Amino acid sequence: MSDTTRALGAPVLRREGRDKVTGTARYAAEHTTPGCLYGWVVPASVASGRVTAVRTADALAVPGVHTVLTQDNAPRLKEPDDPILAVLQDDRVPHRGWPVALVLAESLESARAGAEAVHVEYATTGHDVVLTADHPGLYTPEEANGGYPALRERGDAMRAFDAAPVRIDATYTLHGLHNHPMEPHASTARWADGHLTVHDSSQGSTAVRESLAKALGLDRDRITVISEHVGGGFGSKGTPRPQAVLAAMAARHTGRPVQLSLPRRYMAAVVGHRAPTLQRVRLGADRDGVLSSVSHEIATHTSRIKEFVEQAAVPARIMYASPHSRTEHRVVALDVPSPSWMRAPGEASGMYALESAMDELANALGLDPVELRLRNEPQTEPDSGRPFSSRGLTACLREGARRFGWYDRDPQPATREEGHWLLGTGVASATYPVLVSKAAATAQAAPDGSYRIGVNATDIGTGARTVLAQIAASVLDTPQENVTVDIGNSDLPPAPVAGGSSGTASWGSAVHKAATALVRRLDGHTGPIPPEGVTVTADTGEETAQESPYARHAFGAHFAEVAVDSLTGEVRVRRLLGVFAAGHILNSRTARSQFIGGMVMGLGMALTEGSTMDPVFGDFTESDLASYHVPSCADVPDIQAHWIDEDDPHLNPMGSKGIGEIGIVGTAAAIGNAVRHATGARLRELPLTPDKLL
Ligand code: MOS
Repeated sequence: MSDTTRALGAPVLRREGRDKVTGTARYAAEHTTPGCLYGWVVPASVASGRVTAVRTADALAVPGVHTVLTQDNAPRLKEPDDPILAVLQDDRVPHRGWPVALVLAESLESARAGAEAVHVEYATTGHDVVLTADHPGLYTPEEANGGYPALRERGDAMRAFDAAPVRIDATYTLHGLHNHPMEPHASTARWADGHLTVHDSSQGSTAVRESLAKALGLDRDRITVISEHVGGGFGSKGTPRPQAVLAAMAARHTGRPVQLSLPRRYMAAVVGHRAPTLQRVRLGADRDGVLSSVSHEIATHTSRIKEFVEQAAVPARIMYASPHSRTEHRVVALDVPSPSWMRAPGEASGMYALESAMDELANALGLDPVELRLRNEPQTEPDSGRPFSSRGLTACLREGARRFGWYDRDPQPATREEGHWLLGTGVASATYPVLVSKAAATAQAAPDGSYRIGVNATDIGTGARTVLAQIAASVLDTPQENVTVDIGNSDLPPAPVAGGSSGTASWGSAVHKAATALVRRLDGHTGPIPPEGVTVTADTGEETAQESPYARHAFGAHFAEVAVDSLTGEVRVRRLLGVFAAGHILNSRTARSQFIGGMVMGLGMALTEGSTMDPVFGDFTESDLASYHVPSCADVPDIQAHWIDEDDPHLNPMGSKGIGEIGIVGTAAAIGNAVRHATGARLRELPLTPDKLL
């Protein structure tokens, strides 16, 4: 037992699994105390304009209603570090759904009834919410998200394209997508003795504490933010959200604990979304399929209050060798909710277009699409010329093709029938960057021989506690059961968010360092360990400040088999198989779950998920799970996730790359390519709903 649980990579069970399935794990909205008030937000009902009056008399007359906070009486905020947090401060309405009042009542029901009785008057102006490729407001910003330059050019991509004997020029359309974690965004806030405690549903409570400190003008030592259990986030909880600020404000104003949970239908307005993208891809190649020109141009939207630029052309800078390349992002500010992070932001959207275009090129050449990708493997990262720390794409493609049974494939489209079903298979590549941020951790040895680790990591369902125990145990040379792990509290050593597929690398590096220092300390220690234990603290400031000379990315390959109903246009995915190269896998059970989860989300992106911007109403029309369709169990077929264990010394002490996001990257392209193989029809707009196939 202890041998397997000592080893990194072992399929150790989630530590909090039992608490979750038995309902004893408590989430942010479940930390109410006696005397708690419940909040309900009043969202703006126009898409653009100003609030001219908020009439609260009828709401205050609703039994149980205690207070209504509006722009007139809400506490003034200092300097929110994100414009989406500057709520109830002025009369501006930047988009439909912007919070214009907060009703506080003795029960949730009273708060909701009170919110319906608030009368808001607006002065409206016309709104502009529709992204088009020729929108006059489109501009090229300095940077796309992640600090990447918005525009990169190598050689002369247009000239090389015009001169290429084989050319693909295709435009792909992705509509907005919503995160919709199972647990809605919620906060419970209370003030006691000048100290603010907030239970928040967040991907990182160190960042939430920082934002609250700035917004409320408080010393951070007077704030504790707790995110003990979090029911998913997918990026929407990666930055602090208005419910935390509103709950804190309301608790301060009323002197009572306040619980605020966002209704599902309200989330699309204030928790971010994956911005729509219109993507033009041009590929030029010789008759052997060797690329001479790669161009990827993005048009996307942001809101009026924040520049957020989905970096969808960035993967085209690293995927395939080509002497000429042009990648550009343009953005237009519209009267829409602020977009934000959604699982593999940039890569998920951009790789749909790039990997669909690669399939189009393979078809135009009469070349196998796996072979086309192998022929365009770069020696170094195309954009930077840096060597790859490791690059497992060809291994993933070959291993995936073998496991999937790809090489028996007849490339001819629309020739495999099973009754009225048409069958097809498709492939696409995946990639995600290796990211890491500074973190701190403590490691403590107790007199009884047990250990305790502290780091403000967050478990959003991934198994963070478990893998951190494994990392510590591997250094301390003890069974992982012998290590207690404290996470999810901003009083612990500060740590970055569970995001960017970087949580385990960032927190784990600090845990590894602290545990290593503890071993050294204990080696030099004589006599019994004192009752208070021996504790060391370490942080990775130095390590993370150094830029790696290597281009570091995880890679993968997806293979899909679909059946398309020739009578109804329905697409069923029959099989999905992914192979990933992401360094060392630290827990095979939780890693497999993450890969599969990403692939299911990619399946949703391909077939069912999509949000429509209504030009008249001025908002997304799909705002609940009855209209925004995430895959259900019946949609999810046989999914297999495999990996190639990489020995890459240029990563971190565990040798790991991120695994949380790469599963969604390329999945939709593999499914779209399989639909084309099944039917002969190339669709360039997601989701692949029956209306588009008939
Ligand atoms: Mo993820 S979109 O990096 O939280």
